[in-house]
Amino acid sequence: MSESFRRQLRALPDFHENLPDFDAATAPADPAELFRKWLAAALDAGERQPHACSLATADSDGQPSSRMLILKDIDDDGWHIATSRTSRKGRELSANPRAALNFYWPLQGRQVRVVGHAVELSAEASAADWDARPAADGSHNPDWQLYAIQPLEIEFWQARHDRRHIRHFYRPAGNAELR
Ligand SMILES: Cc1cc2nc3c(=O)[nH]c(=O)nc-3n(C[C@H](O)[C@H](O)[C@H](O)COP(=O)(O)O)c2cc1C
Repeated sequence: MSESFRRQLRALPDFHENLPDFDAATAPADPAELFRKWLAAALDAGERQPHACSLATADSDGQPSSRMLILKDIDDDGWHIATSRTSRKGRELSANPRAALNFYWPLQGRQVRVVGHAVELSAEASAADWDARPAADGSHNPDWQLYAIQPLEIEFWQARHDRRHIRHFYRPAGNAELR
């Protein structure tokens, strides 16, 4: 049983045939600009939810957990995500405000990883995000919280069929003290 499952997994298709090129030497200096380009390209390629990412958090003992979330914005505060403060991830971010995001766009063999420090944005911004959800019904949710992940490190990763995968790093210097 497990042998055939192992073989089944081994035989699954690899990266998509038509991978885009990525020249790190000509990448923009601003990682947010490169992310917007890659997001637009992922949409053009037919990715359904390119703004979905995993969010990894850890509790005060260092036990990690992760789940999918939707990216809400990127601005000078950081990479915005929103959730309930009373959820597991909300409680973990209160106890230990370190977080990691991971986007994966299989049609393009692209991954973007963001590691950083989570800060809570204002109650007004959180309420506006709650009201802007597709399922908004005019209700209020005082536990809904918008966070900004202030990046310490961002990696853009491009798969290549020759296996010389490209890794392009940004380390925003202004955030060094958060390490
Ligand atoms: C594609 C996708 C997007 C999601 N977006 C959100 C989101 O933006 N905010 C949120 O709180 N949960 C979102 N969820 C649900 C979370 O993954 C998770 O199940 C829930 O928030 C509870 O997580 P926790 O118990 O680890 O705190 C999303 C799930 C999927 C699959």
